Amino acid sequence: MNEKQVVEETKKFVKEKLMGEGSGHDWYHVERVYNNALKIAKYEIGVDIFIVELGALLHDIADHKFGYSDKDRSRIISQFLSSMNVNQKIIESIVYIANYISFKSGKNTHKMKTLEGRIVQDADRLDAMGAIGIGRAFAYGGFKNRIMYDVEGISDTGDTVSHFYEKLLLLKDRMNTDYGREEALKRHNFMEEFLIKFYSEWKSE
Ligand code: ADP
Ligand code: NI
Repeated sequence: MNEKQVVEETKKFVKEKLMGEGSGHDWYHVERVYNNALKIAKYEIGVDIFIVELGALLHDIADHKFGYSDKDRSRIISQFLSSMNVNQKIIESIVYIANYISFKSGKNTHKMKTLEGRIVQDADRLDAMGAIGIGRAFAYGGFKNRIMYDVEGISDTGDTVSHFYEKLLLLKDRMNTDYGREEALKRHNFMEEFLIKFYSEWKSE
């Protein structure tokens, strides 16, 4: 199988696994991350595009959110890629990306060791920001039965507006690439504007 065919097969595999997923990790998220990763990669030198493509497509497969361990994830990705005779070194790079990409509530201080990892991570972070990021945050909140805004600070499950302060507004300072940073800033500003409007409409100002 050539690289192009491997990428096509991987798209099919991921689509099948994630289609209709309700927590914000659905196929269209993966597709956006894939497209953004390719865009970011254009501005970087010495990128292995094949690794970026497979890394983006497989970054949310067997996510820890669905109860999978790093070991499960490694096995699932390795088995799938080995079945298409992708070489072991490339498989290791993809598994590395999938295992280290997650923000894990802001506690992930691991700096991606590979350029391809930094690119896919930026693409994933961009998708948590801006208009799409806002949409995903409220979709996820609904999925978890959370209220939008806990104005009195009484909810014990947390609210979605808090998520902006705990994660989304921190992302712009955590980007790895130049293009990522530039795009993150735009999306950040949009989220700030959104929150201003949100509070003002909340109070019927
Ligand atoms: P990552 O890919 O960094 O692991 P997550 O799996 O944490 O991202 O989140 C997937 C999507 O759900 C993101 O858009 C994120 O902002 C959103 N999300 C995660 N946790 C929350 C939360 N507590 N409240 C609202 N949205 C959330
Ligand atoms: Ni993701």
